[in-house]
Amino acid sequence: MTDRLIVLISGRGSNLQAIQAACVSGQIPAQIAGVISNRPEAAGLAIARRAGLPTQVVDHRRFASREDFEAALDEAIATWPSDWIVLAGFMRALTPGFVDRHRGRLVNIHPSLLPAFTGLHTHSRALRAGVCWHGATVHFVTAELDGGPIIAQAAVPVDPEDDEARLANKVLAAEHRLYPLALAWLCRGALKLEGDRVHWRQSPPPQERSLLAMIPEDGTCTVQR
Ligand code: GRF
Repeated sequence: MTDRLIVLISGRGSNLQAIQAACVSGQIPAQIAGVISNRPEAAGLAIARRAGLPTQVVDHRRFASREDFEAALDEAIATWPSDWIVLAGFMRALTPGFVDRHRGRLVNIHPSLLPAFTGLHTHSRALRAGVCWHGATVHFVTAELDGGPIIAQAAVPVDPEDDEARLANKVLAAEHRLYPLALAWLCRGALKLEGDRVHWRQSPPPQERSLLAMIPEDGTCTVQR
């Protein structure tokens, strides 16, 4: 029996698309049980429907409190049996209550090399800070915003000619490599959350845990060690 993922989105859905492709190709030994968006207008919903995936919308604007929204989200999640809840561009902060209920099976991708640049606008902040390396992080979700134990990271070099859009594209291409890789390890049982740490059952952890992603002009992501 393969694992089942529920993917939570708010917008474009390019990570959802990469994850779905990796499930279909067998890279991730799992299937997407369903996709939930908190925004009815999310473009990712069309991607899900085109792939034949069941979708639901839980519009946060219809609820008076975060707790009410999350109760409805829990109901939507419970519609499908699932092993993992995968946040892929899901732009709502989650309460400690929700995070605790799903602890150990809730993962996120964040567009920076955490713990640097938690929160929003990571690419412009990285440029302003003048860092030489930027990237993306897959981590377990805990109550601390973007602060959960790190599963894997991809670094991209920041080039002098990078502006925010160019840097964002480079990081996104790396995300599309990194998230499927991390989800494949999770679904194969290579690691789990133990207390506040990632415990690797497979020792040492896979080398690709720290990807060095090179993005040439054509946008395809190649990876070096
Ligand atoms: C990604 O950069 C992800 O890291 C961040 O939001 C963006 C979502 O993009 N959390 P997409 O919707 O997957 O295209």
